[in-house]
Amino acid sequence: MLTEHDFASQKRRADVVARRLADRHTPLIRNAWYVAAKGDEITRRLMARTLLGVSVLLYRTEAGEPVALHNRCCHRSFPLSEGKLEGDTVVCRYHGLRYDAMGSCIAIPSQSQSPGKIGVRRYITMERGPLVWIWMGDPALSESTPLPHPEWLGHPDWDIEIGYVNVKGSYVHLHENLLDLSHLSFLHETTFGTPEYAAAPIETKIEGDDIQVWRHVPCVLPPLYAKPLGWEGMRAIRHSGSQFVSPGLHVNSGVFENLDLPKEQQSPPPMVKVAQIITPECQDRVHYYYAFCRNFVRGNPEVGAFMIKGFTAAFNEDVYALEKISDMHAQEDASQFYEIDIAADRAGLQMRRHLKTLADRETAEVSGVAPHFGKVPGAE
Ligand code: FES
Ligand SMILES: [Fe+2]
Repeated sequence: MLTEHDFASQKRRADVVARRLADRHTPLIRNAWYVAAKGDEITRRLMARTLLGVSVLLYRTEAGEPVALHNRCCHRSFPLSEGKLEGDTVVCRYHGLRYDAMGSCIAIPSQSQSPGKIGVRRYITMERGPLVWIWMGDPALSESTPLPHPEWLGHPDWDIEIGYVNVKGSYVHLHENLLDLSHLSFLHETTFGTPEYAAAPIETKIEGDDIQVWRHVPCVLPPLYAKPLGWEGMRAIRHSGSQFVSPGLHVNSGVFENLDLPKEQQSPPPMVKVAQIITPECQDRVHYYYAFCRNFVRGNPEVGAFMIKGFTAAFNEDVYALEKISDMHAQEDASQFYEIDIAADRAGLQMRRHLKTLADRETAEVSGVAPHFGKVPGAE
């Protein structure tokens, strides 16, 4: 039985470890690429979306370029998304200030004077395949930070299905969930988990901020994979990897090997890759896109629909868990609990140390420095 003394000493120890790790309170990382939206969500209609705690206005120019501006009129903070898109300019619905696609205020209807160098912040965007990425940190650092978009995402060699769910929970917990897949045997026991999964040996590879976990699980594949492959009831090995790529992206990979079929019939081996696209909406909500890519039974919409339905059901189980955890954190004071770490957490702990280092670095960089409002075109 856990005595009060045991609790106090475990908690002291856990608190010391936790201080070096990112958690739901750690400031969000701004100097990173995140997915703002799927490309087909950004249209000629003004759309508001909260990203990293900031309301962002998204639209396309007449030439089709995505635009991301701070969705807050610099006059009296009216949301620009409530206004009108005229050509490539946005007119605020309150007093009519007009902004161009760079975010510069180019007209104030109630005065004849030129507005000068005022405007709203414009965020850098990059469209790749089906996604539009955004940079909301220091613009000077965007060029030296490679876009994490994987080459297979949107590549014609892979069939792709994309789902979305808005998660009530911390993005740190979502990354952690994806690095510790021992939960497949429990949380996902009826969707894509199998009983052997949790106890399968883990290979954890940590090289700097490249954090990966692999398992090679002999099993009968769950129907989500076995059915489309025609492998139901057959013995297989499920090679399964999780990789933390950046604060905004995680990749899960599955390579399937059939032990009952000759090797020649499995070349190239069937594979799935899932881009787990993690964009914090704010400290405790996440825009979660999952882009599921497969190299087998391609060009078959029925299989695509079956698999994305299965993935959506499974990922909703993760959402359920993260929301329950979020509720527990909201309900109870930190003095009332501690969390222990187990062997399966090794990669997750490294990821949380990494995020904490990034957040501390950003906090140190901005402390005592005036906030950066981005460059208004024409400004020195
Ligand atoms: S609040 Fe936008 S023009 Fe006044
Ligand atoms: Fe999961």
